[in-house]
Amino acid sequence: MKRKVLSALLSVAMVATLLVGCGSSAETTGAPAEEAAPAEDAAEEAAPAEEAAEGEEEAAAPAGEGGLIGVAMPTKDLQRWNQDGSNMEEQLKAAGYEVDLQYASNDIQTQVSQIENMISNGCKLLVIASIDGDSLGTVLAQAKEADIPVIAYDRLIMNSDAVSYYATFDNYMVGTVQGEYIRDALDLENADGPFNIELITGDPGDNNARFFFGGAMDVLQPYIDSGKLVVKSGQTSFEEVATANWATEAAQSRFDAIIASNYSDGTNLDAVLASNDSTALGVANSLAANYTGEYPVLTGQDCDIASVKNMIAGKQSMSVFKDTRDLATQVVAMVDAIMKGGEAPVNDTESYDNGTGVIPSYLCEPVFADVNNYKELLIDSGYYTEADLQ
Ligand code: BGC
Repeated sequence: MKRKVLSALLSVAMVATLLVGCGSSAETTGAPAEEAAPAEDAAEEAAPAEEAAEGEEEAAAPAGEGGLIGVAMPTKDLQRWNQDGSNMEEQLKAAGYEVDLQYASNDIQTQVSQIENMISNGCKLLVIASIDGDSLGTVLAQAKEADIPVIAYDRLIMNSDAVSYYATFDNYMVGTVQGEYIRDALDLENADGPFNIELITGDPGDNNARFFFGGAMDVLQPYIDSGKLVVKSGQTSFEEVATANWATEAAQSRFDAIIASNYSDGTNLDAVLASNDSTALGVANSLAANYTGEYPVLTGQDCDIASVKNMIAGKQSMSVFKDTRDLATQVVAMVDAIMKGGEAPVNDTESYDNGTGVIPSYLCEPVFADVNNYKELLIDSGYYTEADLQ
């Protein structure tokens, strides 16, 4: 068994040529390119393996000697989770595990029920990308009672002592990369300004959103304080700039209102800090419909297909690439270590306190992406095909 897993991992390592994201360690090589490339545009198509409607049971996976692993994902609505789910399923199966993969339509109660079912179906370990990090305490107490280890995937699960490990990208760094991009694009150190900026981040129930926003504001706040950056809407607190469920439509309608009140008289909006691509897309849609001034610097995260297309078209300035293949590889290495009775590999034991103590974490490295390097990052690595981006 051990030998089989090792040789499967080795062959994955040999096929993969490009190391980004989790980068340098042996466990972090990406999956073979052609296995991970999503289909064109529609998020559902990105994960052919999970075509069953959300909330439905998956067809039984072929018997894996390693035992059944439950993988709970938030939603199929956003492209990245389709990729995360299919990468996890593929790589867990290759390592000899059975997989119960579920998507919860961004509905907290659905996710709780799915996890309850995973526990009663005899899962040996749970990998969970939570919808609301604070809502899983009760169900995870059941997991703990049944001695089922829990890995928080991408988003930290809060206030539960059932969480054994956390694997994610360096969320704070995502924010600083975005903030520094705006600082440099507007040359805030040297230019006189003032420049107008507006801010938008993600779901308040997603712990990551605070890290993204916090990282970016640590760079930008001094310029707001000195008056070089001006937020004309006055909306600067996390609560004011949060976006429920990271929804594109909510981002768009908030910006419709901001533009109507502050930028419809020819006043330029110079920059928008958007924490991810789904909110950046809402901002871009609103700009297209309502704004006539000079196009602002606009940040994002994920390199979603729609946003990469917008980067190519000059409608989004940058994104942050988080190679979900690498995160899956890392999490599968964690699963494997735990299932064999060992400790999972981690590289951070300080940053992520979930309210019950610091959760040992593995942080993959996010990578800056823009129109100049997207081909190398996304196409040459096999993440997308040229056709995906047309
Ligand atoms: C993820 C981001 C994603 C966002 C919305 C966050 O938790 O880290 O990559 O854009 O959720 O799905």
